[in-house]
Amino acid sequence: MAVRRLAAEQPESFEFTEKNLAWAKKLIDRYPAGRQASAVIPLLWRAQEQNDGWVSEPAVRYIAELLDMPNIRVLEVATFYTMFQLQPVGKKAHIQVCGTTPCQLRGSEDLIKICKSRIAKHMHEISEDGMFSWEEVECLGACVNAPMVQIFKDTYEDLTEDSFNKLIDDIAAGKEVTPGPQNGRRFAMAEGGQTSLTEIDDDTKGTLPLPHVVDGSEKASHHFAGAAINTGGNDYDGVPTPAEDAVAKVVAAHAAKSAKKDEAPAPAPTPKKAAAKTADKVEKAAKKADEPKPVSKAKPKAAPAETAEVAEKEPALLKKARGGKPDDLKKLKGVGPKLEATLNQLGFFHFDQVAAWGAEEIAWVDSRLKFKGRIERDGWIDQAKILASGEDTEFSKRVEAGEVASSKSED
Ligand code: FES
Repeated sequence: MAVRRLAAEQPESFEFTEKNLAWAKKLIDRYPAGRQASAVIPLLWRAQEQNDGWVSEPAVRYIAELLDMPNIRVLEVATFYTMFQLQPVGKKAHIQVCGTTPCQLRGSEDLIKICKSRIAKHMHEISEDGMFSWEEVECLGACVNAPMVQIFKDTYEDLTEDSFNKLIDDIAAGKEVTPGPQNGRRFAMAEGGQTSLTEIDDDTKGTLPLPHVVDGSEKASHHFAGAAINTGGNDYDGVPTPAEDAVAKVVAAHAAKSAKKDEAPAPAPTPKKAAAKTADKVEKAAKKADEPKPVSKAKPKAAPAETAEVAEKEPALLKKARGGKPDDLKKLKGVGPKLEATLNQLGFFHFDQVAAWGAEEIAWVDSRLKFKGRIERDGWIDQAKILASGEDTEFSKRVEAGEVASSKSED
């Protein structure tokens, strides 16, 4: 694998669009306080999508700041995973060819030759028309359908020289392309058809997966077929995934068969009975999953401060710490070294200052932090009151004991 470094030429800055920032905030809120760093992969992915398919150095710094992580930790993630591109890529497709043993044995070298002759001689070079680029990567987890390539979020499998050439032609022409196996096989099923559960008709051929056009504008909305990428999901468009679609069709086919069986006299026990029992279980589980979940009677929690407009009021600020001895604000769960520095710059050095904030003061501080709602979400005020009284919180004890490396955000 090639050395992965940031591109020599970088843009001046990076910022999420308003929509992406709102999405990022929602995503980060899914994690418990102190674990926001867990959102780094989906955030990097979204930054890549926003930035024409590659992650820039300003984007790395921006995400580090959002998640209160050291830059180097975000850079480590971006440079480790080949799903992140570190330099500009082709507008229509960046083709990642798996070159690991199973794919190599099944012809990936021929695919690479095609990339070299049709796109660019070297990996990561962009084609003359700016539309394509390619690279060789390690196993992408679809070995049973080798050889395969990944383009943005989608995988194209069971490729031959002909089908790969056609794929490139279709993408270049802006035609619809269908991810998944390119030889008509269904997922990773046996190429010659079903070899087990043969009493269930596989009448779902030709329905998978959804075709779509690969171009820059759709990079953010692709479904993916083979090697699944978890990029923080749940923001897809509600169309069933191929797997959901397949399960629904198999269950429906089985239900139709069962109905027919009910009309006929009960058959003598056969080995098929066991298979039908299994299918019944699948059906019941699927039905259960479809049943509406009971709605909690508990009152919904009030939305955080951002929904209710609260007037801002400047809190009591200090030019420097009293007696030259600032409190260790990192003992507040949710405050890392960067946030502590920001708070100091704003004029906050002591727990009692934070403890004295009311709703208006919180709104004032909130609007000066990168992330609105953080103060309430992490419970700074309650923590600060305890710490200002000279007591410890569970979290501050862990900081004292060195169990948390200087701040929650770096654990
Ligand atoms: S070896 Fe190519 S996907 Fe695993």
